Amino acid sequence: MPPDSSAGSSLLFFPRLVDWQRRHGRSGLPWQGTRDPYRVWLSEIMLQQTQVATVLSYYPRFLERFPDLQALAAAPQEDVLALWSGLGYYSRARNLHRCAQTVVELWGGAFPASAEQLQTLPGIGKSTAAAIAAFCFGERISILDGNVKRVLSRLLAFEGDLAVAAQERRLWALAQELLPAAPDHDEMIAWTQGLMDLGSSLCSRGQPDCAACPGAAICLASQQQRTTDFPVRTRKLKRSTIEWWWLLQRRADGAVWLERRPEQGIWAGLYCLPTHGSRVEALASFGGEPALRQEHETVRHVLTHRDLVLRPLEIDWSAAAREDLAPRQAAPGLWVARRSDLDLGLPAPLRSLLERLLPA
Ligand code: ADE
Repeated sequence: MPPDSSAGSSLLFFPRLVDWQRRHGRSGLPWQGTRDPYRVWLSEIMLQQTQVATVLSYYPRFLERFPDLQALAAAPQEDVLALWSGLGYYSRARNLHRCAQTVVELWGGAFPASAEQLQTLPGIGKSTAAAIAAFCFGERISILDGNVKRVLSRLLAFEGDLAVAAQERRLWALAQELLPAAPDHDEMIAWTQGLMDLGSSLCSRGQPDCAACPGAAICLASQQQRTTDFPVRTRKLKRSTIEWWWLLQRRADGAVWLERRPEQGIWAGLYCLPTHGSRVEALASFGGEPALRQEHETVRHVLTHRDLVLRPLEIDWSAAAREDLAPRQAAPGLWVARRSDLDLGLPAPLRSLLERLLPA
């Protein structure tokens, strides 16, 4: 069997998947009945690393505050991060904002209408560009996100190592060959959504439900009973652990001091407790004066390539220090006294901690 097999019989996949999506796929989601690129783009960025159920609560709030591209482009970055708070992967929010500004400045306020041009914008990768172009403009172009790589590498028993860029390009070319010569716009919508829906339901990583799959009769991996051999990917994600000490400084009224994080790196631009790489460094930042009042429970938080271990240290201010109320930190920041002050861009684990510490 040649590594990528022939796409001959797999041409049958397009009509079957389109039909399956219309009967069994997701429908009626707030970003589905529209071809407005602003709304579709926003949903695609939110959905990139976040579950549909979570996006369902963020998407309408975001649109209410930023009803169109112009409103988003004109907003301060801080407001965008605040509305994104809790969705994680904040570089998405920063790129979203830069993208809105770029479309206003370079494209007269209207998204360009091809995947090739969409890809030039901040935060829009090749697959997201294809999704927007297929959904909004009916372009004959295939998406290839993580789930779709799994679906198509199984369908075609694609043996190439997807950690290798040239192999990924080959799979992309094969994905494009699965499309009929002139699909109509509605078919491109159902096909694109169908690939995503199949990848997140029946064609799951561990135990795909081949019996229910519209592609079962033509899926080479299923026929060979090798579904879990695909996709082939040799390079393993290297994970590392970072340990951070958080300084929790409370004013006499219980308010907590937060600082804005630098523009680069983890949680860039979000508000956070002053953060140090060691316990000694954290306490020394006070010149050794304050006593430690309480060590809060360690918080563990998983990022894409890293595990964070967060150790909040609560500082006991002397009576005198409390009176001057000045935090001993150089970075710009603010005091938060109540849970209602938390409409800021905050890392999710810090939000949980503050919600426990602060009054309503
Ligand atoms: N993930 C990325 N885009 C999506 C979409 N349109 N529907 C469901 N999940 C997605």
